[in-house]
Amino acid sequence: MGGWCDLVTAMKNSASLAFSAIFLLSALPLSWVAAAGLQSLEDLKAQYVRPKSVPFPDENPYSQVKAELGKKLFFDPVMSGPRTVSCGTCHQPNLAWGDGRPKALGVDPTGMNIRSPTLIDVGFVDGPLGWDGKFHSIEDVTFGPITGRVNMNLSEGELMERLKAVPAYVHDFTAAFGDNTINKSRIEQAIATYERTIVAKEAPFDRWIDGDEKAISQQAKHGFAIFNGKGKCADCHSGPSFTDGSFQDIGTATGDDTGRGRYFPTSEKLRYAFKTPTLRDVAKRAPYMHDGAIPTLEAVIDHYNKGGIDRPSRSPSIKPLHLTAEEKSDLIVFLKTLTGDSPSKIPYAEE
Ligand code: HEC
Ligand code: HEC
Repeated sequence: MGGWCDLVTAMKNSASLAFSAIFLLSALPLSWVAAAGLQSLEDLKAQYVRPKSVPFPDENPYSQVKAELGKKLFFDPVMSGPRTVSCGTCHQPNLAWGDGRPKALGVDPTGMNIRSPTLIDVGFVDGPLGWDGKFHSIEDVTFGPITGRVNMNLSEGELMERLKAVPAYVHDFTAAFGDNTINKSRIEQAIATYERTIVAKEAPFDRWIDGDEKAISQQAKHGFAIFNGKGKCADCHSGPSFTDGSFQDIGTATGDDTGRGRYFPTSEKLRYAFKTPTLRDVAKRAPYMHDGAIPTLEAVIDHYNKGGIDRPSRSPSIKPLHLTAEEKSDLIVFLKTLTGDSPSKIPYAEE
């Protein structure tokens, strides 16, 4: 029990009718439940339950030794030409697996023209990766940054030579794969296995979903209602990782980088469409968007509230929202409940 209807009934039965009326108005907008076509708050919450295990593909199943080797490679600057930059330079655990910069900075001081995305929950996301979907899989990403000139700038051949010269790596590859061969595919498999273990920490929001009513504030619950209703955020940021993996024009980008549209020049809808990012740990990941163009969460909400640039490619879910000041601040309070504070309890699907 304890469903949405029960809550409403309980409030109607409450001795203090005046209090209930104010409470209902300020904290329980019922319209969004109907607007979302949902029967109850319980149905809605069920869509945000964390998965039972972390998925690993059959072609590259989980093993602890492989994940440990991947972790070592991920944080080793030997993977870049001048031995100064590792994957962990741009995907930093203490910066919610981003780098806190508007634009990524690799070995070339001029930097890249896009922001480093977080890797949180990357193993749960369906579909292509990268802001414009240029990568087919997590494995497929690996050598993009390694051999990228402004990124890590190391040739495949030179990388193999360097790793083969380190006895500890020869030992680790043998432990992970059964013999001492070090090649591109094994490097991809080891690093990808480690990346799939980068799972969102348990957040206050998750404890609320699991039934702890006190885990988040009334304001945050209201924000969750706006997120799924009037704000239309869940049209794209859906499910427990807060992304459906789709590419969308949210009416921000202009200029040469047309995102997914680059690969589909005749598609009107994919012009300026970028990957919908997870919102896990989002409060710790400013600045925002593929180009770091929006500095704060407040400014992100203002953008959505205004609806951005009205053009044929813009998603039909993006239009002026007419949110009140209270609705905007409650949305932000809600987004802050997505910051993980306790270790993930989700097990890896073992080999
Ligand atoms: C100089 C900073 C930088 C370094 C170093 C770097 N990355 Fe990234 N990473 C980025 C940027 C920027 C993107 C977005 C790329 C794009 O959209 O084309 C990205 C995207 C990704 C993605 C896709 C995430 C998603 O949700 O779409 C993965 C996975 C990833 N990197 C893993 C790695 C690995 C593994 C390494 C080391 C071999 C690495 N990165 C090194 C900046 C970096
Ligand atoms: C039509 C799909 C769609 C809807 C609806 C939508 N978003 Fe987004 N969201 C995106 C995409 C796509 C991006 C990345 C855009 C870019 O990089 O240029 C994004 C980026 C963000 C970011 C920045 C995250 C980061 O890591 O850079 C936040 C925060 C965010 N959205 C919150 C919201 C909120 C809150 C709402 C509701 C008011 C909302 N979104 C509605 C698709 C959507």
